[in-house]
Amino acid sequence: MCGYSVTNFGHVFPPFVEAAQKQLTQLTHVTGELHSKQLELASSLLSFLGFEQGSHKVIFNSTGARAIESAWKVATAFRPGRVLAFRSGFHGRSLATTALQGESSLQIIDLTGKAVETRCQTEYPYCLRCPLEQQFPACEINCAKPLFHQLERYDKGIAAIIVEPMLGVGGYVAPPDDFFQKLRSVTQKLGILLIADEIQTGLGRCGSKLLSAAQGWEPDLIVLGKSLGGGIAPLSCVIGAAPLLSNLPPGSESETFAASPMACAVGLEVLQQLELGPWLERGRQLGSILRTRLQQLFNNRQSHKTIAITGIGPNAILEFGCDSPLVAASNLRDEQHSTWEATRLAREFATACFRNQLLVHLTGPDRTRVALLPPLNLADEDLEFAMQKIQESTPP
Ligand SMILES: Cc1ncc(COP(=O)(O)O)c(C=O)c1O
Repeated sequence: MCGYSVTNFGHVFPPFVEAAQKQLTQLTHVTGELHSKQLELASSLLSFLGFEQGSHKVIFNSTGARAIESAWKVATAFRPGRVLAFRSGFHGRSLATTALQGESSLQIIDLTGKAVETRCQTEYPYCLRCPLEQQFPACEINCAKPLFHQLERYDKGIAAIIVEPMLGVGGYVAPPDDFFQKLRSVTQKLGILLIADEIQTGLGRCGSKLLSAAQGWEPDLIVLGKSLGGGIAPLSCVIGAAPLLSNLPPGSESETFAASPMACAVGLEVLQQLELGPWLERGRQLGSILRTRLQQLFNNRQSHKTIAITGIGPNAILEFGCDSPLVAASNLRDEQHSTWEATRLAREFATACFRNQLLVHLTGPDRTRVALLPPLNLADEDLEFAMQKIQESTPP
């Protein structure tokens, strides 16, 4: 585990510590004015993401939730209306972002952050437990059709949709790329803005600079956080086309501690390491080794026949009680039973890992998933150590 994508380079990664230490001897705080490290970081972010200088702008914040709020402000300044979010998504726990989650499947949120209407039963696509019991690609993403239908119907009142390219806190569920490509084309047609919350998925966590780009779609606003601060300083940002961000009235966004010189110095080093170091490739290789080894291990265990192993980039996700590719349940009673059993198996495995001193993440809407999220720079011997612990935590 690396702190929900905060310590993607592990703890006290020397280049980050050195960058922070150096900055601390030069300048620690500037209030209300731009400082050179902010400008350098904004410019580096644009180059890193392949945008031309001047074509895009950056707003800096400290936490992920605040950056989501900034994106929300930008979106509604450009196109007044409501913001849609997926029930199983997670965008923070500030007052406004808390409203982006809730009981309903898809919420329509007004500007005060209140969930005012629920019109649509679209869930975030979760193919391993498809509620329609269909299979991709034959399904043609039928689960998303109600959403597209409602967007067409209520487009005038909707400013933006916010979505994670893969659920983070919600269980590391990744829909097919086609879902996002379709969502992009429908929203583009209707003029609805698409906000990619890449606070967890960006900057190498999924083996790419941005997961949205790897999936083949382009958001209007990109939100980054967590690992941008290298596990040392809180740092987040929103990136979008200059004309879009320029709609935000001057002075409508600021934070005393956003993008401090030290946070920016570390952020610059994070981008440098991802751009010039072997880490994106290493992360992809690590995930592929991890998933293959887990598959071999579980294939040989009688007690864990029904397990699916997925994951993008360095991540490996174990889905328990899953008769891949569909859960072996055809009616509600069986499905409930199979979910309870899967939850029990996942909890047992995660607990055994903890007892063996390996930190894993029990997750998913029904806690049927266990996520292994190693840092990109995990050494081979640490991978062997983890595999040994996993082996000891798996019943015969
Ligand atoms: C995808 C995503 N968005 C937003 C946030 C909120 O970030 P923060 O806790 O820094 O406010 C999180 C935090 O876990 C997250 O995973």
